[in-house]
Amino acid sequence: MASVLTADAPAEIRIFPDADGAARAAAAHIESLIAARTSSGEDFSLALSGGNTPRPLYRRLAADYRDRIPWARVNIFWSDERYVPHDDPRSNYRMARETLLDHVPVSPGHVYPMPTEPANPDEAAWRYERTLRANFSGARSSFDLILLGIGSDGHTASLFPNSPALDETQRCVVVAAAPVEPKVRLTFTLPALNRADTVFFVVTGADKAPALRRIVKDSPDPHLCPAAGVRPPRGTVIWWVDAAAASTL
Ligand code: 6PG
Repeated sequence: MASVLTADAPAEIRIFPDADGAARAAAAHIESLIAARTSSGEDFSLALSGGNTPRPLYRRLAADYRDRIPWARVNIFWSDERYVPHDDPRSNYRMARETLLDHVPVSPGHVYPMPTEPANPDEAAWRYERTLRANFSGARSSFDLILLGIGSDGHTASLFPNSPALDETQRCVVVAAAPVEPKVRLTFTLPALNRADTVFFVVTGADKAPALRRIVKDSPDPHLCPAAGVRPPRGTVIWWVDAAAASTL
């Protein structure tokens, strides 16, 4: 594992030979974060990312940490969702259930999928906003860990370049448009993403190399590269990447 620190942000990039190596290491670090929080008697708040990249990590957590993580103490959220039924193959909730949640003893009452049944997606966004506000108050106003990926265009969650959602300063959850199907999304806003004690970006594959280099080396405008806007003022960002994604760093 190689490690580089980014030029102007307290972020760390951990590079592994392949996606499985990154998944194994990230899973071990997640277990340690959960142990540290729950050993003090508190629950752990985890926001999952979607897409395909997290699958090896979720499978690794299910295979190696079923009995090593107090899953009943983990409150599970999503940082974005495609506005499709939860049984749709494109659903981030369905992907997380299939690769992780159906295989570990989570507490059903502590799993908070983004709602996608309201006819009006903005009603769903407000409903999830209320869910977050009910779970976070006072001293516990931030997520213990938010998992994220990036697209080759530099998007993260469902915050895409030039999206009006990038200008949201008050709400934690909004409706956003994606340039690819499913085009209607619910997504955390940058204020929500930056209310994290720890953010893990998991990035693998050569197709992500240009975006990763741009984010790490150029500190681009978040309107043009939304992942660059994830800089939690009181949090830590760790990138878990494979050699292919890191090939141009
Ligand atoms: C989604 C994700 C999205 C994802 C990137 C990368 O709903 O698709 O939240 O932000 O992390 O699009 O997707 P892949 O991991 O499939 O490359």
